[in-house]
Amino acid sequence: MRSVVRGVGGYLPEKILTNADLEKMVETSDSWIRERTGIETRHIASSDEFTSTLAIKAAQKALSNAGLTGADIDMVILATTTPDDTTPATAVKVQEAIGMTQGCAFDVQAACSGFMYASCIANQFICSGQVRHVLVIGAETLSRIVDWTDRNTCVLFGDGAGAVIYGASTPEEDEVGMGILDIIIHSDGRYRQLLTTTGGVSRTQNAGYVLMEGREVFRHAVKNLSDVAEEVLAKTGISVSDVDYLVPHQANVRIIEGTAKKLGFDMDRVILTLPCQGNTSAASIPLALYEGVKSGRLKKGQLVLLDAMGGGFTWAGGLIRL
Ligand code: UT7
Repeated sequence: MRSVVRGVGGYLPEKILTNADLEKMVETSDSWIRERTGIETRHIASSDEFTSTLAIKAAQKALSNAGLTGADIDMVILATTTPDDTTPATAVKVQEAIGMTQGCAFDVQAACSGFMYASCIANQFICSGQVRHVLVIGAETLSRIVDWTDRNTCVLFGDGAGAVIYGASTPEEDEVGMGILDIIIHSDGRYRQLLTTTGGVSRTQNAGYVLMEGREVFRHAVKNLSDVAEEVLAKTGISVSDVDYLVPHQANVRIIEGTAKKLGFDMDRVILTLPCQGNTSAASIPLALYEGVKSGRLKKGQLVLLDAMGGGFTWAGGLIRL
């Protein structure tokens, strides 16, 4: 049994923050941000929008695209670094909003790799036959934990949510090899200080602000991302030429170009949302999938390679036949 993508959805808050806006807030320039990151604009949640608000809108879109309702979903896994509350999990708000009273809902924290971790868990439950449909969401309001006076980080992040519904494959789909072929997840806690927050509930009784050693994270990112992509390709026996699109975590266009080059992808086979969305952490891969499907580039039957890297460090790679 495999986990097949039944529907994808996404939501971006209306408010847009441009590089020109940031020039008025910190000592930076549009040209620096474009050249060093590839980011032009990002979306910022309004004061009455929370991570759950974004997640619910993305989930509703994914449900309607899948032709399913909350009654069909057995499990909600929401990946986030910015939950609405310390407890309960933001996932239970989604569960309630989609009218789902059965099954279970919980959050996963694996920073920017969160969507991949959540998809990996979903895949285990579907493949073991315990559940039929899992709603996986990556949703963030990173703007709430960004230090808007720190030019090293505030130009990078944006808010948003993306959702994917995975369903158990039919025998016909198994025959043609549809669904998740594999997802590999990694972490290495020795590097946790390189991308962290200034606090947390137990340590400082607040959420803290994002702190990043950008250059060091960058250095590890290209290696970890290409290594895990090669690992998943080797494990599944798939070669880069068989893959239709690379759908990477969107942190920095130079990281994406470096990884693509190392793996042998031309940039026209890479889904890029970074220029208009910035780094939306756990939301970036499902939002890129949503964008790819909406624009008609990603189609049923295609093979996509996903990879992500984030705080922890955490990193992950996956191959899915859509
Ligand atoms: O999603 C999780 C994973 N996150 C990432 O993968 C992010 C990884 N890191 C990066 O994307 C890049 O390291 C950054 C975009 C954060 C920084 O780019 P960089 O090319 O590594 O720049 P840098 O940190 O080496 O800084 C170069 C210069 C510094 O000035 P000095 O020390 O050379 O005088 C910085 O102070 O650029 C300066 N700088 C800025 N200048 C204008 C840093 N931020 C800014 C800014 N505007 N916003």
